[in-house]
Order: sequence, then structure tokens, then C-alpha cells
Amino acid sequence: MADKLIMSGMRPTGRLHLGHLAGVVDNWLKFQNEGKCYFEVADWHSLTDRVDNTELQRNITEMTTDWLALGIDPQKSTLFVQSLVPEHAELYALFSMITPITWATHCPVFKDKTVGEDAIKNPSLGLLNYPVLQAADIALYKGTHVPVGEDQAPHVELSRKIIRRFNSLYGNIFPEPETILTKTPRIMGFNGRKMSKSLDNHLAPHHTQEELILRTGKMITDPQKIRKNDPGRPEVCSVYAVHDVYNSNRGVVESECKSGARGCVACKKELAGVLYDMFEDFREKRAVYETKPQEVRDILYEGSKTARAVAIRTIEEVREAMKVKF
Ligand code: TRP
Ligand code: SF4
Repeated sequence: MADKLIMSGMRPTGRLHLGHLAGVVDNWLKFQNEGKCYFEVADWHSLTDRVDNTELQRNITEMTTDWLALGIDPQKSTLFVQSLVPEHAELYALFSMITPITWATHCPVFKDKTVGEDAIKNPSLGLLNYPVLQAADIALYKGTHVPVGEDQAPHVELSRKIIRRFNSLYGNIFPEPETILTKTPRIMGFNGRKMSKSLDNHLAPHHTQEELILRTGKMITDPQKIRKNDPGRPEVCSVYAVHDVYNSNRGVVESECKSGARGCVACKKELAGVLYDMFEDFREKRAVYETKPQEVRDILYEGSKTARAVAIRTIEEVREAMKVKF
């Protein structure tokens, strides 16, 4: 139907960690040379389950600075802020008219957040409608490919359903978006749970070498490898999982682990070194952007103008299709 159009976004939670890179940003970097890209700072989405928004503006700048320092290029991709494009709200409202309530209540992410011990008490309509807003985000730019982390796959699935329903009710305006995952959509943090800042089990491009050594030191390895010379199983080791993504020496790591020729302490140190060296360019670029936060915000402001021009065209088509054009 359409050319490749890449649409994705992130909630502004501050600085990025390896989970964001291995799950999402590595794909954004790849896609930016393959098609038109729209990358969104999803500030409205970050209000769906968080009352404390004191750091919101700072988090937007911090996250975008990380995107830029990692190589997301505003010359190639449109970087924008959701709240600067009010058409998101209009399409969100219109999509909510065609979305059965049960689609939203059955969404596994919504269930996870509202059932069980750490359930959000008294969840908002905003949280329930989270995937409807996400569908509007994708559809406004006629996204065909949506590179996201594994946790977001159910939201993109629901977006597809909403878009399909719109197309069948009002005419074929939108392409059906495809979820794109990396080879490593789920990187483990050092306590064996999913890597996340709130669990403080993450490795990040801004960490110092000492911090990386300390943090990789806490990672869970093959529990059957007790002594240094015991043979190990890289396939069950969270340290190896990261070597496998980022260490060009991965073949040696694997065979030395299997034969018992390498101990876990040295193996973790090597990983810390690989990561530290890999982010040298990131650190340099970030240091430059840190001196000009206004430039970062200007990039988002300009990108939002570009995004809005596209969004306005799409919303015109939608009004016409739904016969709400007065
Ligand atoms: N919900 C996504 C996340 O938390 C962010 C997001 C918002 C998004 N809109 C999007 C991702 C549209 C892909 C497409 O990471
Ligand atoms: Fe994991 Fe490395 Fe230890 Fe093997 S040697 S179990 S890959 S940390």
C-alpha cells in the first residue's frame, strides 16, 4: 500500500539504558537509513499512570539528548513531542468511538497494571485508553512499521485492530502497522528481572567505567558454574546475553565459557570494558549537547511543526471519511 513509514515513540522517563537500546533504539538507528521515520516523545502517555510529573520537562530533554548522542539524526528523522501536535487528541477521541471497551480491558498490559499486588489503585480512563492513544499516534503518520520493545507489542496489536476496524467502517485510509522487534527484545537486568531504571538493575551508556564494573559484577551467571574452571552454559547466562549483542569477540567468550577456560569475574570485567569503549562516541556527543539544552528543545520544536503538518492532512481525511466535516 504505502512506502515504508516508521513510527515509534517512548515515554519520557529520563536517561536511557541498555534495555532501551537493545530493544528499541538499535532498530531506530537501522531504520533511519531505510525509510521516513517519526520518533515521538510520548508525554501524554507518561501521564496515564503517574501522578508525579515534576520531572517531566527535564526527562524530555534528558531522553532526547540521549537519542541524539546515540546517533538519532534530526536531519534524517522527525523527532517530535506528542503534546505539541493536538491532532493526536482528536484522532484519539474519534478512535475511542469505534473501540469496544472490552478490547481495552482485555489488553494484557492493562491487566498487568491493574490486577495483583502492585496494582494501580483506581486506574484512570487514560490508562484504559492507553492503546487507543497509541493507535492514534501511529495512524496519524500512516505508520507501516513500528519498532518497539517487547512490552509494547500488545499495544501495537490493539492498534492494528482499531485501524483495521476504522478501515472497514470508513474506508481504507490507514496501512496496518507491523510490530518490529529486535533480536534481543528483552534484556535482563542484573537481578534476573527485566532491565529497568525503577528496579535499579540497569546498565546505561552514561555509566562510568567503575559503575559498569560494579554493576556487571552483580549480574546473574550460569548457576551451575561455581568454580572459575567449571564449564558454563552461555545460553542461560545474562552476561553472555549482552556479550552476544555488543561484543565482537562473542565467539571466544562462548567457547571459553563452555570449555571452562574463562571465569565469570573476568568475563564480567570484559563486558564492562566493551560497553565503556562502545559508548565513547556517545559520551563525547552527549557532553556537547549538555552544554546546549535549548538546541535539543529546538530540535523537538521544529520536528513537531513538521509532524503537525502531516497530522493535519491526515485528520482532514479522517473527518471527511467519518462525515464529521461540517
Ligand atoms: N507506549 C510506548 C512506550 O511506552 C510509547 C509510544 C507512544 C509509542 N506512542 C507510540 C510507541 C506509537 C510506538 C508507536 O514505550
Ligand atoms: Fe556467563 Fe561469562 Fe560466566 Fe560463562 S564465563 S557463565 S558467559 S559470565
